[in-house]
Amino acid sequence: MNNHLINQNDGEKTKEQLLWELKQLRQRMANLEAADIERRRIEKSLSKYESNFQELVNLLPQTIYEMDINGKFRFTNHHGFESFGYNQADIEKGINFTQLFVPEDRERVEHNIKKILEGTEVEGHEYTALRKDGSTFQALIYSSPIMQNNKAVGLRGVVIDITDRKKIEQELKDSRDQFRNLSAHLQSVREEERSYIAREIHDELGQTLTALKMDLIWINRHLTSEQQEISTKIQEMFSLIDQTIHTIRRIATDLRPGLLDDLGLSAAIEWYCEDFENRTGIHCHLELGNEDIILDQQRSIAIFRILQEALTNVARHAKATQVVVKIAIIDHNFMMEIRDNGIGITDEQVNDPQNLGLVGLRERVYPWGGTIIIKGSPRQGTTVKVNIPL
Ligand SMILES: Nc1ncnc2c1ncn2[C@@H]1O[C@H](COP(=O)(O)OP(=O)(O)OP(=O)(O)O)[C@@H](O)[C@H]1O
Ligand SMILES: [Mg+2]
Repeated sequence: MNNHLINQNDGEKTKEQLLWELKQLRQRMANLEAADIERRRIEKSLSKYESNFQELVNLLPQTIYEMDINGKFRFTNHHGFESFGYNQADIEKGINFTQLFVPEDRERVEHNIKKILEGTEVEGHEYTALRKDGSTFQALIYSSPIMQNNKAVGLRGVVIDITDRKKIEQELKDSRDQFRNLSAHLQSVREEERSYIAREIHDELGQTLTALKMDLIWINRHLTSEQQEISTKIQEMFSLIDQTIHTIRRIATDLRPGLLDDLGLSAAIEWYCEDFENRTGIHCHLELGNEDIILDQQRSIAIFRILQEALTNVARHAKATQVVVKIAIIDHNFMMEIRDNGIGITDEQVNDPQNLGLVGLRERVYPWGGTIIIKGSPRQGTTVKVNIPL
């Protein structure tokens, strides 16, 4: 008590002092009453705020949850009860968080909870969630620690049901696989067909024409000197047959270069580059490296067809005067680079799914997990980089 409130002479309070104290007490009571009213007002608005918040949480179309540090489930919203099939009484009886996942996932769940509580993990995790009735669904969970006095005392987060998304993803993957298989199948059917037609044209027609030529030689030999006119006709036929044989060879080689099957990829590429230069007038410089490139037939065909398509594109679109083809095997990877000095392909053209020539290029390397990167810059040309693991 303050000194001035005490009568210094006999320890008794004067009337004035008592009145003064009474006034003080009244004032304090009034203050307390005001504080109490304020406290009740805050409490009321807090509880209103809380019930608004609760309403919002219950409206959410995803599960919101809270658990304590021991993994005991403490709270969830309506959606949580609905999607896991438990009720408030179950929570009060006690549900452990790991119970909500299939046994195979529980160790991973515990491990991740530990990491989140330590504050070292922020990513979402996918698990197979387990309902009360034993059925399951795919869940993506984002959680963060509940902190009190700088200490993690639990975990709260959101559980998103991604079953539909997973299903669509799977369907998309299946359909892409189907498309890839079909595309690979068509390519190989096409190769077989080409190879067959090339052989037939070359062997059958070629031999027939050669036989025809022999017969003409025979006839020519048996002509008399008066039959000069027929002889001239025969000479014309000779040159026609030669031209046809030449055409047949060209068609057969276009369909399927025999070199590829007989002498291998390097020889076929050398021949093709030379032929390309002669046909188009675009200078083609080939860097083949030292060692002969010996690959299985499937890869050889794929690589040869990629080169064919890339060079055909150079001739058709690039307006180039020169193209450099580099081939090497580095660390068990086949690498091929085709670089022209033309107008340069644009990013839009590279990414346009309608450009089936380019789509075909990519599909060619897919079976081996290879990659194709196509890049162009204006007036600096286009580069196609191929990588196929061996
Ligand atoms: N080397 C290149 N230089 C410049 N533009 C190119 C080059 N290669 C391709 N392009 C552009 O990319 C487009 C797509 O090429 P893609 O090979 O897919 O189709 P295409 O050659 O027009 O037809 P095809 O289906 O017969 O191959 C071309 O139309 C062309 O505009
Ligand atoms: Mg093309």
